[in-house]
Amino acid sequence: MSKVTVVGAGNVGATCANVLAFNEVADEVIMLDVKEGVSEGKAMDMMQTAQLLGFDSTLVGCTNDYAKTANSDVVVITSGIPRKPGMTREELIGVNAGIVKTVAENALKYSPNAILVVISNPMDTMTYLALKSLGLPKNRIIGMGGALDSSRFKYYLSQALGCNANEVEGLVIGGHGDTTMIPLTRLATYKGTPVSTLLSAEKLEEVVKATMVGGATLTGLLGTSAWYAPGAAGAYVVESIIHNQKKLVPCSVALEGEYGQSDICIGVPVILGKNGVESIVDLNLNADEKALFTKSAEAVRKTNDVLKEINVL
Ligand code: LAC
Repeated sequence: MSKVTVVGAGNVGATCANVLAFNEVADEVIMLDVKEGVSEGKAMDMMQTAQLLGFDSTLVGCTNDYAKTANSDVVVITSGIPRKPGMTREELIGVNAGIVKTVAENALKYSPNAILVVISNPMDTMTYLALKSLGLPKNRIIGMGGALDSSRFKYYLSQALGCNANEVEGLVIGGHGDTTMIPLTRLATYKGTPVSTLLSAEKLEEVVKATMVGGATLTGLLGTSAWYAPGAAGAYVVESIIHNQKKLVPCSVALEGEYGQSDICIGVPVILGKNGVESIVDLNLNADEKALFTKSAEAVRKTNDVLKEINVL
């Protein structure tokens, strides 16, 4: 029996739960929210699609009742406020830090062995907060950002190439921020052919820029944060863990010397399996990419420092 809890039944959390159930990633998916009735209603609505869509996973909603989440294999944290147009992810820290910490502590009381997948923004800093405050081994704390950013990168690459997004490979590392993420164009390929030989430098630069502000573009269109791709990216991370798929996915994880960084959670490629982070993959970055990564880490660290300023760490 596999069980996944998604905390926060807003747009992102509900989408994540929906994808988890639809793809039968877990036998049981629990949605928990602070708003009375919301997760119960969404779970019931989704369960009424089970026959139409042909899935057998069970969805259960509950209002702040952590006992119902007991013995989850994975807990996904989506709680907190989303971005409004014009806001950066970093501006959410004051409100979201307290929420994420409380949620994680409550969830772990009932699922002491769970692997945590953090989606709440600012994602790298929320992942770091979980790492520093919960006392869990580092392999059990995973920020989802790079999975989402890489999927957006592949989308924009496929648009530029006029090809199927599933036939494009690409990784985005670094922070999950409009100015901190690093789409690795040098390593991106279309069916094994480097995209740098298929697209002009200008076109590639456009793809990089569009990827970096991918979230902000959607916030501008929607009036709030995106949810389909963020929710699906969360489910993708969970699936590799629950089914021990050992997929290589860029995620925000604790570094202890890898990529020249320590005491930070930031996006790097990792192998995801039943233990959470099975290993960190060391990409052979060139000097420019290394410099971008160092700069990105500095920016993430600056946001992490706010945790001390507002006394949550
Ligand atoms: C985004 C938010 C969820 O990138 O961080 O859409």
